[in-house]
Amino acid sequence: MTVELVVFMLILPYLSTITKSIRFNVESGVTKCIAEDLRINSMTVGEYSVVNPNEGQPLPEHHKIYAGVFAENEKRFHDARGVESGQFGFKVVEDGKHFACFATINHKPAVNTTVDLNWRSGVHTEGWSKVVKKGSLEAMELELKKLEVTTNWIHEEMLYLREREQQMLKQNMKTNSIMGWSSLLSLFLCLSVAGLQVWHLKSFFEKKKII
Ligand SMILES: *[C@@H]1O[C@H](CO)[C@@H](O)[C@H](O)[C@H]1NC(C)=O
Repeated sequence: MTVELVVFMLILPYLSTITKSIRFNVESGVTKCIAEDLRINSMTVGEYSVVNPNEGQPLPEHHKIYAGVFAENEKRFHDARGVESGQFGFKVVEDGKHFACFATINHKPAVNTTVDLNWRSGVHTEGWSKVVKKGSLEAMELELKKLEVTTNWIHEEMLYLREREQQMLKQNMKTNSIMGWSSLLSLFLCLSVAGLQVWHLKSFFEKKKII
């Protein structure tokens, strides 16, 4: 249950994010627009860059782009001129289609400029209350609390186990030393008994005048 919850929380931001990653051509003198339907209060972030046709060399002037991002009512959120790459990011203030438009200078003969665009839009925190009902948020909080308690409990358990392990280690060392001493003692006893026996036998045979 808790594992599922954690997984859910980890993937949720990705689920609520729509990513559009595309590569397209912009022909000289022709404006190319990419449309994206955006929700009010969501955050949107875009990155674009020109693919250099001759890698390692500076980008020719006629491959530099003009970029603009607009809402349907032509409100402009981004404006860049003669760039190789750029970024835009804004909070959507109106539901509806938004456009990222790209153009290059009217070069003759016409050439294609390849552009990479990565456009992400996600649910902003303000949108959360609409997406997640209050009840489920509270349930989530409760689960988190439970998780916290469990984590604490596991931590305590770990400490306890570690302490016990150390105690056992100490005990083991004690036992080991006792074992060592006792084996030494038994060896000593064996030797002395053997010595006594030898001494006893010797005196016995001496008495019998055998030796
Ligand atoms: C640019 O690319 C498009 C396809 O993306 C193609 O139709 C067009 O002919 C190309 N233009 C030039 C000048 O290469």
